[in-house]
Amino acid sequence: MHKPIRWRDGQAVRRGESGHELSEAQLLALEDKYCSHGDTVHYTIPPKIFDSCEGSFLFDAAGREYLDLQMWYSAVNFGYRNARLDAAVRRQLDRLPQLASQYLHREKIELAAQIAQDAEQKFGAKGRVHFNVGGSQAVEDSLKLVRNFKKGKSLMFAFEGGYHGRTLGASAITSSYRYRRRYGHFGDRAQFLPFPYHFRGPKGMSKEEYGHHCVKQFERLFESEYNGVWDPKAGEAEYAAFYVEPVQGTGGYVIPPKNFFVDLKRVLDQHGILLVVDEIQMGFYRTGKLWSIEHFGVKPDVIVFGKAITNGLNPLAGLWAREELISPTVFPPGSTHSTFSANPMGTAIALEAMKMMRETDYEAMVAEKGAYLLDGLRDLQRRHKIVGDVDGLGLALRMEICEPHDSFTPSKAIVDRMVDEALKGDLDADGKKYGLVLDIGGYYKNVVTLAPSLHITKHEMDLALKLLDRVLQRVGQA
Ligand SMILES: Cc1ncc(COP(=O)(O)O)c(C=O)c1O
Repeated sequence: MHKPIRWRDGQAVRRGESGHELSEAQLLALEDKYCSHGDTVHYTIPPKIFDSCEGSFLFDAAGREYLDLQMWYSAVNFGYRNARLDAAVRRQLDRLPQLASQYLHREKIELAAQIAQDAEQKFGAKGRVHFNVGGSQAVEDSLKLVRNFKKGKSLMFAFEGGYHGRTLGASAITSSYRYRRRYGHFGDRAQFLPFPYHFRGPKGMSKEEYGHHCVKQFERLFESEYNGVWDPKAGEAEYAAFYVEPVQGTGGYVIPPKNFFVDLKRVLDQHGILLVVDEIQMGFYRTGKLWSIEHFGVKPDVIVFGKAITNGLNPLAGLWAREELISPTVFPPGSTHSTFSANPMGTAIALEAMKMMRETDYEAMVAEKGAYLLDGLRDLQRRHKIVGDVDGLGLALRMEICEPHDSFTPSKAIVDRMVDEALKGDLDADGKKYGLVLDIGGYYKNVVTLAPSLHITKHEMDLALKLLDRVLQRVGQA
């Protein structure tokens, strides 16, 4: 165990900003009173306070180890306190940590060049990179870019189960009405189409057939002007772009069939609709490729990225777009920017992360670790009736929790209990007590979405499977 900071009256205590020592109970009381609860989700009551981190683990103030299988919703792909990336922070901190975004610094330029050169090599298209701070803001920027290029067309297609962020524009193309319900409409809500979620698709269709079926349903919209999206006389669609996550993130790590995006892109190309790929959660080798869309053999018009590009350190997000959409004549200086976009700390870390990704064979490493974990999950599925489905692409893995009588009816209640049990920190393995950090997603909020560190060791993977087994046993018996 890590050493607690200090103990007082049997409680771990930490030093507050003003020099006062606050117990955990005091901190929680202050949080309850002074923190907006609107900027977080309290999955457990009381919410958990963590104190430190290393590699694949978070530690509470008592020093208990929690194996993290969600890594800050996939923002910390390269492990907590990654020495190489942390060193980049220190170097930048000592040289040029702050700079107004109207001036240039080498890290911004080199990072943009690397991303654009990589995309040119992979997708055969010249392009540019535009930075912002968070994922939702980068999605907002992509909406402006697309609307500008499509001469003000503001309608978008997106998928049921898709998630693109919580700002007003991003939530308009995110499928959950819950995220919009209390705020009215600020922009146009996307038209949401079914994603090939095979486990819950029609019976009797293979995964490939179901993917094909979903595209056919979409293609039907263009059959006649009366289907509502296409003017055959003008040869023009009312919609500007289709926003996709190649593997759905918040939607429950749903992996489409291999042929799906090739089929979909054919329909988009025929009707002049852009393909915007949201790689915010699945990018940076989460699935074993820099961009998850690389698994599916299509060329995107725009890629939006964020999260793991800085391994969860100084925030940075952005987009890559084909030159036609983003050249300075089309998208001139000042089209949309923010004080902290392309900040020196974020770009320095991201540049080092990109170098690390080039120098390390993440593709082979992630595929191998992902296959090992998926095998383990399949074994858990065989032994626990509440595990209805498991699947994975690289280290983006899913475990869908269902009622035991049919291993199909979604059970949010069981998954909620799993999260609680996992966070108690009292799971036995190898003669020690551990906690487990899990994240929940899915259309029915019944999917454990597993996004471990890409640097997870074999020993840690075995530990993860053991701890998941313990949790499944506890909630399965209850
Ligand atoms: C696919 C996807 N798009 C967009 C976002 C929004 O990014 P942020 O939370 O950084 O605003 C997220 C965040 O989880 C995401 O997973």
